[in-house]
Amino acid sequence: MDNILVVDSMTMISFDSQLCTNCGTCVVTCPLGLILEGDKASERTPFMPDNLDAVCAKCGSCEAFCPEGAISSLFDTSYSKVSLKDFRDIGPEQLGIYMRKRRSVRNYSYELVSKEKIERIMDIVRYAPSGVNSQPVKWLIVHNPEKVRKITSLTIEWMQGLLESDDENPMKMMIPTLISAYENGKDPICRGAPHLAIAYTVNSQYIDSTDSVIALTWFELAAPAFGLGACWAGFVKIASISYQPLIDELNLPPGHVVRHAMMFGYPRYDVHSIPGRNPVDIKWK
Ligand SMILES: Cc1cc2nc3c(=O)[nH]c(=O)nc-3n(C[C@H](O)[C@H](O)[C@H](O)COP(=O)(O)O)c2cc1C
Repeated sequence: MDNILVVDSMTMISFDSQLCTNCGTCVVTCPLGLILEGDKASERTPFMPDNLDAVCAKCGSCEAFCPEGAISSLFDTSYSKVSLKDFRDIGPEQLGIYMRKRRSVRNYSYELVSKEKIERIMDIVRYAPSGVNSQPVKWLIVHNPEKVRKITSLTIEWMQGLLESDDENPMKMMIPTLISAYENGKDPICRGAPHLAIAYTVNSQYIDSTDSVIALTWFELAAPAFGLGACWAGFVKIASISYQPLIDELNLPPGHVVRHAMMFGYPRYDVHSIPGRNPVDIKWK
């Protein structure tokens, strides 16, 4: 990647007085209202008081919305400087078809996806929104297909245990078919996908699944642009919360939990049409 800026500094943002016109956009776009107005008469640029560094969410709104390119975020992170000057937004027609054409992919070729390609997708996914820009999501990419098969077999084991238990879990209805498919050599859990993307976070009451689900939604949406397909791995997610052998297999760092999981790889079949969905249910006020 070119032009990666990595700065470790306590100063969160810098204002270039040569470029700043004191238009005030940074003041009104800061979500936490941390940037104080400048003064046109004395040519003092807006500024963020040093004592607010710790409060800054490092979201970069000030930098993104500054029409003069006068603001640089200096927090400890990395990004490629991309000029948006000549970038034309994707039109609604094209975007609508791209998004509606996304399908859950359940048939994969054996070809492995290169780590480099996965990293390119992740470089997009890390820009998914998160509450107060907390960016809590970490990733376990199961790249080795044999390890994906192991996760399938442990999830099936968990299902067998659930079936034999008194638990009134509504999933019990589906389980016999899945187990029988597995016994017949199929993979009804990870669908023969070569890889799994597992989004995990610190196990804290202050972090729920939302940020992880958004990030995985981005992953699934980005996948087709890279020639890939994906599908939520709901059973893996549920089993990985409570089934100790699966928790041990995933071996996340201590104090972390799985938030959701997605299988992915090169799709075996192309999508040729877009199926119907319920009409949207909107209540206007
Ligand atoms: C939270 C969640 C969990 C899911 N878990 C599974 C799963 O374990 N296995 C599977 O084959 N599909 C799974 N799916 C895919 C859904 O079945 C699929 O999204 C739905 O049928 C709509 O089809 P589409 O994604 O092609 O539009 C899951 C989807 C979501 C959103």
